[in-house]
Amino acid sequence: MNPAKRRTVIAGNWKMNFTPAQAREFIANVTPLVAGKDNCDIIFCAPYVTIAAAMEAAEGTNIKIGAENVHFAPKGAYTGEVSAEMLRAIGVEYVIVGHSERRQYFAETDETVNLRTKAALAAGMKVILCLGEVKEQRLAGITDEVVGMQTKLDLAGISAEELKNVIIAYEPVWAIGTGLTATPEQAEETCAVIRNVLADLYGAEVAETVTIQYGGSMNDANAAELLAKPNVDGGLIGGASLVPEKFAAIVNAAQ
Ligand code: PGA
Repeated sequence: MNPAKRRTVIAGNWKMNFTPAQAREFIANVTPLVAGKDNCDIIFCAPYVTIAAAMEAAEGTNIKIGAENVHFAPKGAYTGEVSAEMLRAIGVEYVIVGHSERRQYFAETDETVNLRTKAALAAGMKVILCLGEVKEQRLAGITDEVVGMQTKLDLAGISAEELKNVIIAYEPVWAIGTGLTATPEQAEETCAVIRNVLADLYGAEVAETVTIQYGGSMNDANAAELLAKPNVDGGLIGGASLVPEKFAAIVNAAQ
């Protein structure tokens, strides 16, 4: 973290978990544990049908609720999809785009990730843009090239002004939901690579202001070490975001 230069953001990604009632209960349980922890932004990204209940439960707290994806078209024949305007209409401020599970299981590409990012930004939302290498790429020694290419393609056509509303989540795919965490050194090194690419695209001054999270089996036991690294500005948390005490411990590590 480097709180002097950029905001620390701890975001939960609930994935396909929690009914509206379960989300209400979770928010009620986690709220007292994170109350007053103002050194980071606290967000939970929820399944579409759960967003409204979670927002209601979080009203008046320091917790914000986001979505887990958004479509790029303003409206039309895209069965099963949800537009940026629809999310804005219910007050959603944050949205995850480009999660590796979307890329892996739902055939999203850098091109559609870029379009989704643009649609969300145009609607006035903040985007948590996920990218990261798969295991074979890390083993082949091409992690820097992969994340560099993703950063460039996913942000193509996005201005420095718009970039103020983008958080990048570096998520090595091999570390997601596997219990394998990148070492603090690996996380720091690759987050720094991404920041260097941002410096090439937008200039060093702008790059220094961008929040770059780490994601991939971040939990109560490893968060402090990861967040101690200067280029790791927060976390995108899956499994541990479903357990109030674990999530709160990560928020505490960011204080
Ligand atoms: P995990 O998920 O914390 O369960 O590894 C992280 C993510 O997918 O964002």
